[in-house]
Amino acid sequence: MTLSGSRLDVMRFVGEKIDSFVGEYLKPIETNWQPADFLPDATRETFFDEVKQLQESTRELSYDYMAVLVGDTITEEALPTYESWLMDMEGVNQGDSHGWSRWIRGWTAEENRHRHLLKKFLYL
Ligand SMILES: [Fe+2]
Repeated sequence: MTLSGSRLDVMRFVGEKIDSFVGEYLKPIETNWQPADFLPDATRETFFDEVKQLQESTRELSYDYMAVLVGDTITEEALPTYESWLMDMEGVNQGDSHGWSRWIRGWTAEENRHRHLLKKFLYL
């Protein structure tokens, strides 16, 4: 995406500042929740009971609630497109390991966990 002069200046200005505050918002990966923390574990003997419990607990969810989950899942499924689009923006250097590219990769990892959890939840 090509930006006009002032927008590109803003992208560059923010990109230079990102590293100073990104640590506040992007936690180290080993401290983050993972989708498996919220889903039945197929390695346990109780897996099928856990799936049944999950299904029972969600049986009464409204159509609207399910529609939102499906809509969110569809949005999350487009994640590779969003990342590609963001990485291609003027002012973002994909080869960098800092600034915008660092934030975009961290954001993508976070969103990917949402995607994975939603997809598995709906599947089960
Ligand atoms: Fe998300």
